[in-house]
Formats: sequence, C-alpha cells, structure tokens
Amino acid sequence: MAEPILRLENISKSFRRPGHAPVQAVDNVSLEVGRGETVALVGESGSGKSTLGRIALGLLAPDSGRVVLEGKVLRELSASELRQARIAMQPIFQDASSSLNPRRSARELMAQALPEAKGSVDEQAARLLDRVGLSPGRDYLARFPHEISGGQRQRLAIARALAMNPKLIIADEPLSGADVSIRGQVLNLLLDIKEERGVAYLMITHDISIARHFADRVAVMQRGVIVETGPAAQVLTSPSHPYTRELVAAVPVLAAPEAASIYR
Ligand SMILES: Nc1ncnc2c1ncn2[C@@H]1O[C@H](COP(=O)(O)OP(=O)(O)OP(=O)(O)O)[C@@H](O)[C@H]1O
Ligand SMILES: [Mg+2]
Repeated sequence: MAEPILRLENISKSFRRPGHAPVQAVDNVSLEVGRGETVALVGESGSGKSTLGRIALGLLAPDSGRVVLEGKVLRELSASELRQARIAMQPIFQDASSSLNPRRSARELMAQALPEAKGSVDEQAARLLDRVGLSPGRDYLARFPHEISGGQRQRLAIARALAMNPKLIIADEPLSGADVSIRGQVLNLLLDIKEERGVAYLMITHDISIARHFADRVAVMQRGVIVETGPAAQVLTSPSHPYTRELVAAVPVLAAPEAASIYR
C-alpha cells in the first residue's frame, strides 16, 4: 500500500499544571491520512482533537509516539527538511486572524507564501484570491486583515495556504467563526480544492454534519482516545460505538434539501 501522507503513531500527551491532576489529553492514538483523503476527527469539547492536530503540525511535542509525514519522522528532520514539511502541511484555524500578521497587507501575506521566481507575484496572488472568492483579487491586494470581514479573512488564510501548494491541510474548526451562509461557501471551497488539487485533509470538527458532507473517513475521539474509525457514511449512519451513537443522536439531522443548500 502507498505510504500515507500522514501517520500518527501511538501519540500520547498529558498536560500538567501545578496543583492540578495531570490531564491525559491524548492517550496512545494512532491515525493515518492517505494521499488525497479527507479524514474528519470528531468528538466533544475537550476530547483532545486540537492537541492531536497541533502535534501533527509539529507545533506541540508529544510525550511519546511519532508523527510521520510522507514516510519521514518529523522529529528526525533537519531544520531545512522541517521547513519543507511545514510547507507540505498547512494549517487552517478557526480564527484566521491568529495566522495572519495584522501588519502585513494581503499582497505581502501572499508574497511570503508564493514560490519565488514564478512570474509576477501580484498576478499569482490575485489569481488565488479570485479562486477563494475574493474577487476581483486585485482589489484586495492592498488591504490589511482588519480591513476585510471575518469570512474574507478566512478566505485570505485559505488562499495563503494554497499558495504554498500543500499536500495536506490540517483544519481545526475552520468554519466555527463564520455564520451559516459563509460556512457553506467556505466548506464548498475546501471541497473544490480537494477535487482540483487532490489535497488531503485532516478536518477537526465537533460538527457531525460537516464530517458527513466532507469526509471520506471519520475518527471519533473521546477523552483522548480514538474509539471508532471507518468510512464516514458507515460511522455516522450506523455507528458501532455507544459514544459515537450519542454524538450522532445529539445532532439534529438536517432535512436533505436544507442540508444541500448549506453544504452545497
Ligand atoms: N496548554 C494546555 N494546558 C493544560 N491543559 C490543556 C492545554 N491544552 C489543552 N488542555 C486540556 O487537554 C484536553 C484536550 O484539549 P483539546 O483542546 O485538545 O480539546 P478539543 O477536543 O480540541 O476541544 P474543543 O472541541 O473544545 O476545541 C482538555 O482537557 C484541555 O483542557
Ligand atoms: Mg479544539
């Protein structure tokens, strides 16, 4: 079988705070994301999803276990290899402002991300901004993050991630900050990108309906442990683990036409 884009092997992470019992945020978790595959990581608040995502991104060191990106162990990479890995694997967070330097214009933010010497930066940047629905892209180049709306900032963050031509996008609740109409648009954008570019996603969400519409495979996390994993349709329509059943039951199932209008 082909090497998956991301392999998390027996990852554990606990947090200690003085005067408090340690919290086992992630407990011996293994998970793979295949090339071009979308895996949704679902589970209630505090189940350890973001911690696992940050470990996958190399933003947080696990207590034990390995992160393997395209067959290479993240921890064993040299500084320059790590830089490459960071480009191959792009994060999208709930709050786009956290990943966009407020003192840089859209042009500068895009220029940092675009490969050098591949034609006019403005032209490439504008094309990507167009692609994410900030159009005409040219009109957004001089804007700063605080001069556009929250939904537009999220699109800018996505355009910036795309400029790096990632193979894997790790998205942590990328739609939670946006209102319902924007959510549908951003979700559809992410779906289109998946189809156009074959990007793989690890999509962290507590929203079962997003997982249902977006993911090929679902992993369900409860108190630091993955309790169930399988094809999205199977896990979310006939869950085998009681916790997954609870999660699914807690979500009002949208009537098909309504769901279709929100999520494509
Ligand atoms: N930096 C930290 N210091 C101490 N405890 C932490 C830290 N980060 C996370 N935790 C704890 O680890 C557990 C898992 O947190 P995590 O943020 O991974 O959950 P989550 O599944 O992403 O939740 P949510 O859906 O609310 O975003 C929680 O109990 C949380 O309080
Ligand atoms: Mg989280």
